[in-house]
Amino acid sequence: MFRKCLWQRVLLVLLAVAATLAMDIDDARAEYGDIVINNYSDAAGMRPAIFPHWFHRVRFRCKVCHADLGFKFKAGGNEINMVKIIDGQYCGACHNGELAWSVENCNLCHSAKPGTQTQVHESTVQKLAPATLQKK
Ligand code: HEC
Ligand code: HEC
Ligand code: HEC
Repeated sequence: MFRKCLWQRVLLVLLAVAATLAMDIDDARAEYGDIVINNYSDAAGMRPAIFPHWFHRVRFRCKVCHADLGFKFKAGGNEINMVKIIDGQYCGACHNGELAWSVENCNLCHSAKPGTQTQVHESTVQKLAPATLQKK
C-alpha cells in the first residue's frame, strides 16, 4: 500500500514536470542504457517493452538474471513472450506481485514509442551504424 502511494506521488511529480516542460509524455520513455525489446510487440499492436537495465543492475547481481534466470547477453536475444512471463519465466520470475509488481501493469513495461526497434537505447552502435545495418 505504501508502495502504491509512493508510486502515485512519483507519477504526479513526473506529470507535473512533464507539463512544465511541455513534453509529450506519450513519447518513448527509454533512457540511456535502457534496452528496448521489440521482437513481437509491434506486430501484436503493443508498444515495445523497455527493460531499464541500470535500475535492475543496482538491485540484483548479474548472476541472478544472466545465470539463474537464463537471460542471454543480447538485446532481443531471448524470445520472451507473455505466456512465458505469466508462467514465471524471464521478467515473470520477479514481476509476479510478490518480488515486484505483477504483469497486469502492461504499460509499465510496454512503454516505448511504437516502431522503436530492439536496441540498447542510444548505444554507440545505434548512433554510429547506418539505419540499414540496424534492421536485424
Ligand atoms: C514485466 C514486464 C511486462 C509486463 C508487465 C507486460 N509485458 Fe508484455 N511483454 C514483455 C516483454 C519483455 C515482451 C517481449 C517483447 C518483444 O519481444 O516484443 C512482451 C511481449 C508481449 C506481447 C507480444 C508477444 C506475445 O506474448 O504475444 C504482447 C501481445 C504483450 N506483451 C502484451 C502484454 C499485455 C496485454 C500486458 C498486460 C496484461 C503485458 N504484456 C504486460 C514484458 C511485459
Ligand atoms: C534483473 C535482471 C538483470 C540483471 C540483474 C542484469 N541484467 Fe543484463 N540484461 C538483462 C536483460 C533482460 C537483458 C536484455 C535481454 C533481451 O533483450 O532479451 C540484458 C542484457 C545484457 C547485455 C546485452 C546488451 C546488448 O548490448 O545487447 C549485457 C552485456 C548485460 N546484460 C550485462 C549485464 C551485467 C554485466 C550485469 C551485472 C552488472 C547485468 N547484465 C545484470 C537482465 C539483467
Ligand atoms: C530479478 C528480478 C527482476 C527481473 C527478472 C525483472 N525485474 Fe523489473 N523490477 C524488479 C524490481 C524489484 C523492480 C522494482 C519494483 C518496485 O519498485 O516495486 C522492477 C521494476 C521494473 C520497472 C520499473 C522501473 C522504474 O523506473 O520504476 C520496469 C519497467 C521493469 N521492472 C521491467 C522489467 C522487464 C521488461 C523485465 C524483463 C525483461 C524485468 N523487469 C525483469 C525486478 C525484476
